[in-house]
Amino acid sequence: MVRTISVLFSLLVCFNLLSEKRDTFFSSDKLTSVGVYYYPEHWDSTQWERDLKRISQMGFEFTHYAEFAWAALEPKEGIYNFQWLDRAIALADKYDLKVILCTSTATPPVWLTRKHPEILIQNEDGTYFDHGARQHASFSSSFYREYAKKIIDELGRRYGNDDRIIGWQIDNEPAVRMDFSPGALLRFREFLQKKYNNDIDALNSAWGAAFWGQTYSDFDEITFPRYRGWGKNPHQVLDHKRFTVNETATFLDEQAAVLHKYASPRQFITTNYIPSFEDGHIGKSKELDFNCYTRYMVSGRNEDLGIGKKGYRIGDPLRIALANDFFRPIDGYYGVMELQPGQVNWGEYNAQQLPGAVRLWLWSVFAGGSDFTCTYRFRQPLVGNELYHYGIVGTDGITPSRGGEEFSRFISEINILRKNYKQGKNISSDYYKRYAAILYNAENAWSLSTQRQSALWNTQTHFENYYRPLKSFGAKVDVISEEKDFIDYPVLIAPAYTLVDDSLISRWHDYVVKGGNLVLSVRTAYKDRNDRLFELPVGGKLFDLIGAKMDFFDLIVPSDTGTVVVDDSEYTWSSWGEIFTPYENTEIWGIHKGDFYAGKSAVLHRKLGKGTVTYIGVDSHDGALEKAVLKKLYSLLKIPVLNLPEGVWFECRDGFGVALNYSPETYQFPLDEDTEILIGSRNIPTAGVLVWRIKD
Ligand code: GAL
Repeated sequence: MVRTISVLFSLLVCFNLLSEKRDTFFSSDKLTSVGVYYYPEHWDSTQWERDLKRISQMGFEFTHYAEFAWAALEPKEGIYNFQWLDRAIALADKYDLKVILCTSTATPPVWLTRKHPEILIQNEDGTYFDHGARQHASFSSSFYREYAKKIIDELGRRYGNDDRIIGWQIDNEPAVRMDFSPGALLRFREFLQKKYNNDIDALNSAWGAAFWGQTYSDFDEITFPRYRGWGKNPHQVLDHKRFTVNETATFLDEQAAVLHKYASPRQFITTNYIPSFEDGHIGKSKELDFNCYTRYMVSGRNEDLGIGKKGYRIGDPLRIALANDFFRPIDGYYGVMELQPGQVNWGEYNAQQLPGAVRLWLWSVFAGGSDFTCTYRFRQPLVGNELYHYGIVGTDGITPSRGGEEFSRFISEINILRKNYKQGKNISSDYYKRYAAILYNAENAWSLSTQRQSALWNTQTHFENYYRPLKSFGAKVDVISEEKDFIDYPVLIAPAYTLVDDSLISRWHDYVVKGGNLVLSVRTAYKDRNDRLFELPVGGKLFDLIGAKMDFFDLIVPSDTGTVVVDDSEYTWSSWGEIFTPYENTEIWGIHKGDFYAGKSAVLHRKLGKGTVTYIGVDSHDGALEKAVLKKLYSLLKIPVLNLPEGVWFECRDGFGVALNYSPETYQFPLDEDTEILIGSRNIPTAGVLVWRIKD
């Protein structure tokens, strides 16, 4: 009880701190606001006013300009043309629309590409990107960086103190782009020289270079890891990935630094990341005020198929839930820069979305705590690569698409909530009592995918086997990095956290001793931060913490399955299973069945100081074992949980509860009789939403 109160108290303190900065950009009584991309440079200027007026009439509160407009802003080197943008901003203002401005750097103009072809990305096979699409310039090109800074300087100087501009988006969906060009190689060598303090022996040791005679005598001998028939050096691969991630982060940092020279404190600086489980650059740019993500839910790709036969028309709820829970904890708040307005053109099958799906996504983004949602784009394009991509209005430029109508509906519903908003009503106690963090470091995913060991291993699925049950419990979840203090979370899960050092192990230990409940899973603490095994029995760094010794691990071929028994129920696995000998006083929660190690321990639990450690030594087929063990833990901790069906999830924010239904069935959400429902009803249909006021 004392712990719960102190957790709630520290959450409140933390909310207050973050709300100070957030309040300079967003006002809490507005809850959220909705905007839409508009590309004036794509349309006849006589239509701009009609379009902006329409955007405003549909309820949007801001628009988004100049994302790919570098060529229109600087048609020739050093010759700028801002008149069209000035006029577009003035028109937006006339219709009460604020503006997010972009740095335009994702589409360098052709004069730059032709003058400095060195800016083009070189692929691993030696081929180069060319002008004609977008994002063909390398973040590792010093020329590209310099020219980008010049146009940003101009933009910043002109609009940095302009209150019609609420914020800046740097670049577009800055991803981790591998560039194998000679220019990038020079920067890679510099990165390594810095990292290893100019000591080539330190690099040789970190890379295990003695193995297969790879030892280097000089940094100039180093090349990129390329496929050579026998795989790549895993330690070198890890450093190369770190380098590339760093290139993206510093490119963003440099752009932000230019904007900071001019931007008023009321203008935010952000970017629009594509959520990606393995892209470790996300959140690494320290100069951004907060992070935004982009999300497309229905495209027919495998990851979008959703639940049930028609689930592909709504998408997989986890793709928004997890993005919310991943981006929010970085700075405490976040925005969504692109949310699909309807049918897209780039997927495999590009189906129509189910009626209600767009509104459902909007509510899903809101539920996670977002301060705004923007959508790509107002008008469906009539030319270019995205001809069949829906907008808020269709090809005639006037008629709202189904998605457009759902955006308007959502905006009017937010207005209902604004009227019902009372400051300070933020916490529903059960939701916060269930609060859990999942510790995540993309470097683990890189290591695990470089050396999967079993073709059945999938790091993301393994992670989701922990995330999904928490959402079904109705828990608030933060995906956090090691920079965060663990003690704020009653439960901390570190799934397959393979790369560790002594300091992390001792932080885990302290967290538990002080009352935290740590859950670890397979493959954790096998390797050091250079991806080398420790000179110990495998997993040996953890034995004292988990109270057991790992005898070995096993991986099973697809024609067979492993079985583990927890509380008389059987669970199957194949991709990774660990076999333990527990120490005295360690409880055995799961045992192997039906193989030569039948009867040996697979799941362990122990008390330590004021807290507990649970170790789940199998990666189950469907996540059922992970869910059963987490449920057992929550029950032991006397934290009540829900049992929401797959596809139904809920969150609390600003005094409101929001439940969302992505499942093929209507679901009756368990709410007390006297709950004040604001939107929807207890019976939530497929693609339906329920919003209620949290009781005092
Ligand atoms: C996004 C991109 C936008 C647009 C959109 C189409 O990934 O940032 O510029 O291309 O896809 O769905």
